[in-house]
Amino acid sequence: MNRSLTTLFLSRLNITLHRLKVVDSTNTYLKSVASNLPSSTNLEGIAATAEMQTSGRGRMGRTWYSPTGEGLYLSLLLKPRLEIERLPLLALTCAIAVYETLHRYLEQGIDIKWPNDLLVHNRKVCGILCEAAFERSELLYAIAGIGVNLNQKEFPEELNSATSLRIAVGYEIDKEDFLHELLNQIDRWYAVLESNSDEIRQAWTNRFSYAYGKKLLLPDGCSGTTRGLTASGSLLIELEDGTSRTLRDADL
Ligand code: BTN
Repeated sequence: MNRSLTTLFLSRLNITLHRLKVVDSTNTYLKSVASNLPSSTNLEGIAATAEMQTSGRGRMGRTWYSPTGEGLYLSLLLKPRLEIERLPLLALTCAIAVYETLHRYLEQGIDIKWPNDLLVHNRKVCGILCEAAFERSELLYAIAGIGVNLNQKEFPEELNSATSLRIAVGYEIDKEDFLHELLNQIDRWYAVLESNSDEIRQAWTNRFSYAYGKKLLLPDGCSGTTRGLTASGSLLIELEDGTSRTLRDADL
């Protein structure tokens, strides 16, 4: 495999970035890196990017459109020091980091559709796929996979609700600059996650319109209104009959 390595020493994370030309999926690649290293290895901070993915994966078994050069396809191996039931906050942490990075380019119009689809002007610009491996209910590692539509000028017809940062701002995005900023934001918010995960909940809530008062039709046909996040990052919903429900992972 054609691969080069870059090392970055950030405040919390030391990143060893595997830069790949073509790979099936950067998440799948890191899974095999993790399973081929001795179990005593510190995996945290090993990361991968690719120019293109042949089988980019999305949530719920979907594929992630990964054309050559135009998108950012990034995955990171992490092992957050966190109660295991709060692990879903990792995806929300990444969403905040992406938000902050996008915000450098765009003052307004960024939102998130729970749990972690980043939207620009109501169109999807980024998706996040977090996966984890456990041994006897102990976390071995988590993989945070982030796909950002950076420089696409158009999308296939079936992706008519997608957009790219380039479409939003009207100029070509320097992928290296974006990546650098994103890794710094992940480093910053990852430290917050580990030191006070309630702050992540607060930061997410402050930034995204989905947190409170959003009227939703749930997958089972019930409708309700969002009432914030639980401590572990589930979405709290008040149903029309006054009862409440928490959603851990779903398409809304
Ligand atoms: C989604 O919105 O469904 C999540 C999409 C996640 C895509 C990224 S691209 C980098 C990493 N590698 C993958 O195969 N998937 C994630």
